[in-house]
Amino acid sequence: MAVEIKKVKYLPELRKVAELADEIWHECFPGIITEAQIDYMVEKFQSLDAMCRQIEEQGYTYLSVYDGGELCGYIGIKPENDERLFLSKLYLRSDRRGRGIASIMLDKVAEEARILGKTSVYLTVNKHNDHAVSVYKKRGFEVTDLIVTDIGNGFVMDDFVMTLKLE
Ligand SMILES: CC(C)(COP(=O)(O)OP(=O)(O)OC[C@H]1O[C@@H](n2cnc3c(N)ncnc32)[C@H](O)[C@@H]1OP(=O)(O)O)[C@@H](O)C(=O)NCCC(=O)NCCS
Repeated sequence: MAVEIKKVKYLPELRKVAELADEIWHECFPGIITEAQIDYMVEKFQSLDAMCRQIEEQGYTYLSVYDGGELCGYIGIKPENDERLFLSKLYLRSDRRGRGIASIMLDKVAEEARILGKTSVYLTVNKHNDHAVSVYKKRGFEVTDLIVTDIGNGFVMDDFVMTLKLE
């Protein structure tokens, strides 16, 4: 069965995305940020409540990724008021990595950006998330800024800003 990517429209599916986010974040971020920061960021950005607020109040859309009918990843996007689309989240469960599914996900993001009339996609990625940075570079993103964001509770996000210009 092919990879399927679709907009999350209903609460039960968003709840499953929140569960998947919790699993993926606790698997992929140890070694990059502390467990305490992972717990804090999951609650602040990826809990069901947080994602509901992002969708209802901040213009976010979540897309779920299915492989063989099984939920295995998700994407979060938000159109900015200018010509850019913000790619806020791009996450794939570890057992589905290394198969090109992220490229399909990034193609979908570019498609959504074009539908919205945007000319670029940008994202923030932890400076030490080497694999994700390599994937983004391979897919045409360039580092366009460095940003340190205070997210409260004594934690900061130490990120590259990366941008993809759409043709
Ligand atoms: C980031 C993530 C989505 C990438 O998914 P993935 O399955 O590892 O990537 P894919 O196998 O689909 O590869 C995507 C592309 O990058 C290329 N690529 C993969 N690893 C690479 C590397 N180390 N160097 C250069 N290119 C690489 C692939 O060849 C492919 O390009 P192509 O389709 O043009 O051939 C996934 O690793 C993930 O969810 N990681 C944990 C969460 C995370 O860090 N998310 C990003 C937060 S900002």
